[in-house]
Amino acid sequence: MLQRSARDEYDGGVTVCEFCRRRVSARVVGAGSLTENGQDADLGEKMRLGLIGATGWLGTALGTRLLQGGWPEGEMILMNRSAPRDIYAAWPGVRWAADAGDLCQGADVVVLSVRPEDFPLPGFDGAGKLVISFMTGWSLDRLAALCPGARIVRAMPNGGASTGQSFTPWVAGPGLSEVEAALVTHLLAATGDVAQVADEGALDYLSALSGSGSAYPALMAQAMLDHARAQGLPKDIAQRAVGSVRASGAALAGQVAGVGDLLDTYRGYAGITAAGLTAADKAGFGAAVAAALDAAGAQAARMTRDGVGGK
Ligand SMILES: NC(=O)c1ccc[n+]([C@@H]2O[C@H](COP(=O)([O-])OP(=O)(O)OC[C@H]3O[C@@H](n4cnc5c(N)ncnc54)[C@H](OP(=O)(O)O)[C@@H]3O)[C@@H](O)[C@H]2O)c1
Repeated sequence: MLQRSARDEYDGGVTVCEFCRRRVSARVVGAGSLTENGQDADLGEKMRLGLIGATGWLGTALGTRLLQGGWPEGEMILMNRSAPRDIYAAWPGVRWAADAGDLCQGADVVVLSVRPEDFPLPGFDGAGKLVISFMTGWSLDRLAALCPGARIVRAMPNGGASTGQSFTPWVAGPGLSEVEAALVTHLLAATGDVAQVADEGALDYLSALSGSGSAYPALMAQAMLDHARAQGLPKDIAQRAVGSVRASGAALAGQVAGVGDLLDTYRGYAGITAAGLTAADKAGFGAAVAAALDAAGAQAARMTRDGVGGK
């Protein structure tokens, strides 16, 4: 299902900052142009990023992390609904657009980080641009119909974005060049791990899986808290105990390939935890997780097919 896992490709000391400054895009993927018609051959020199929804949860994560990583201030145009915010005060060279039309006119790459129901914005014109959307319910086809001649990318970051710990799958519509694909990867890598996937079906599925962020760990924490409280444990003790379980779980990040072995080890002790794991298996723990992912994946697919609010 996954086509390309790109984070490693850009690790090894090459950060987004260095990418921008050293214009390594051409060296990474071979000399080429950002657009199909040959404009902007030097991405680092000319490429302007427009970020719509720059002060939202995700827009803030992307915008500030790119700037912290060295994205040139003069090559970022921001927009929100309310007004410029202090969160970008450290980068006085960024430009705040008057409206979506102003932003689109100045930007080569436009990131859509608004809620699906707030789109399309008055004046928005993605024609001919590289458009990267975080919105659910706006399919590649629906976005392409709004943006003639644009290359469209849909990406689905998760709750780890603000700390650089997102896993962000993305999918491209027709016409994306290799240079643009490398650029998309570099932009998204500001918030964590990045992988290009084959089609929107894979993106929908991953919207249900990695897109859920801390939802399922939170569900398990709640179940443990409820159980501990039902046993008569004081709230403070229960919360601290469950907190330590969550912390142990977080330590598994990056070692997921080894979870099967870890569970085998627990089972091998044939002790307290093994008894619990056996009971959880019998009670349908795996089936409950599968049912959750099935339902969430189906909902994501429905939203891609039908749009949000029928748009
Ligand atoms: N949060 C996640 O974990 C996550 C994960 C994957 C995908 N997504 C998707 O990413 C998108 C952004 O999510 P979010 O959580 O960052 O949303 P959010 O916190 O609600 O932020 C929305 C942003 O859009 C701006 N905005 C709203 N209406 C606007 C308008 N008419 N013109 C210009 N800007 C406008 C808001 O400006 P103000 O600040 O001025 O109101 C704000 O900056 C959504 O489509 C969401 O579904 C989110």
